[in-house]
Amino acid sequence: MQWTTRLGLALALAAPGSAVIRFHCSQLVTDRLDPLISPGLVPSSHVHQIVGGNSFEPTMHPSKDMPGNSTCTSCQFTEDFSNYWTAVLYFKAQNGTYKRVKNIGNNQYRDAEGGLTVYYMQDPIYDEAQKSHVTAFQKGFRMFVGDVYARTLEQAARFRQLTYTCLDEFITRTPEQIAFPTRRCKEGIMTALRFPTCWDGKNLDSPDHMSHMSYPATGTFESGGPCPSTHPVRTSQVLFEVVWDTKPFNDLEWPADGSNPFVWSFGDATGFANHADYVFGWQGDALQRILDTPCYFNDAKCSASNTTYQTVKEMNACTIKPVVEEDIDGWLTELPGGYQAQYA
Ligand SMILES: *[C@@H]1O[C@H](CO)[C@@H](O)[C@H](O)[C@H]1NC(C)=O
Ligand SMILES: *[C@@H]1O[C@H](CO)[C@@H](O)[C@H](O)[C@H]1NC(C)=O
Ligand SMILES: *[C@@H]1O[C@H](CO)[C@@H](O)[C@H](O)[C@H]1NC(C)=O
Repeated sequence: MQWTTRLGLALALAAPGSAVIRFHCSQLVTDRLDPLISPGLVPSSHVHQIVGGNSFEPTMHPSKDMPGNSTCTSCQFTEDFSNYWTAVLYFKAQNGTYKRVKNIGNNQYRDAEGGLTVYYMQDPIYDEAQKSHVTAFQKGFRMFVGDVYARTLEQAARFRQLTYTCLDEFITRTPEQIAFPTRRCKEGIMTALRFPTCWDGKNLDSPDHMSHMSYPATGTFESGGPCPSTHPVRTSQVLFEVVWDTKPFNDLEWPADGSNPFVWSFGDATGFANHADYVFGWQGDALQRILDTPCYFNDAKCSASNTTYQTVKEMNACTIKPVVEEDIDGWLTELPGGYQAQYA
């Protein structure tokens, strides 16, 4: 399925009841910080790429005034000072050294400096009607999805929809798989990370940053499965898409045994430990206003929500300096933090 075709159809045929939004955020910084999992730890265990409000820092205490402490955001909606982040990909050369794979602008955002694309959807993306109405996240809310220690399919199966797509064309979106692709992908690799959609309605966070959220009790978000009684509040599904520019590595020598040469910044070479972090930081009720406005992706109808967009140039201009000074971009003999590639 290609979104462009679907989007065309959606606009032609449907009058959505509420919003599914898709917007890009340029790179705020690439740094060895992880304020959700290890607040205050400098450097954190592994390298991340981070987007959103420029008040991002090592601690991100929940009392932090996220919109108020930021003076710009790298996201397209000017009222979105949330921070969104993922680990970073490296290529392992045959001589054992590692080189960072840059993440680049997504389809329709080719001019964006790195970053990732964010979606908030109330029903599956292919449901043009978007009939559901959901409660937006609140100030102080944060969550995590995935398992940095997963190295097998069984361990990864606890999560749904943390995937990889081999981009034969830049707009290829299927098939999705949960291990790293093992062939050369002509236009790069996309990771897609979808968070659970049922909230316990009480806790803005939890010790593992996951247990205040749940998948539906039966079925899936896509099938409209009901939330469990322990997590009764249905939220929008947050999805990140990250495009990794693996093209420059297609001409280099790859492992003779056909294995994958890419490795996450914390050493996982299986791909099963794909994970993502989210710290809510929308200004006031801006996210709820958008979600309640019938619009699709970020078409003109979204402006009825009285939220404003900035240009890609403005998004690209919102950056911060890394706190940790180290070489993350050379041909490195080990991954920053001291990791080597682990295949199982
Ligand atoms: C963040 O905002 C709060 C409330 O407006 C303010 O008291 C605090 O000094 C700010 N912190 C920083 C680091 O700007
Ligand atoms: C290791 O291999 C990469 C890729 O071919 C190359 O660019 C780099 O210079 C090599 N490093 C050493 C120390 O040989
Ligand atoms: C947007 O602003 C207009 C004019 O002030 C107002 O009538 C409308 O209710 C606002 N829409 C939302 C979703 O807040």
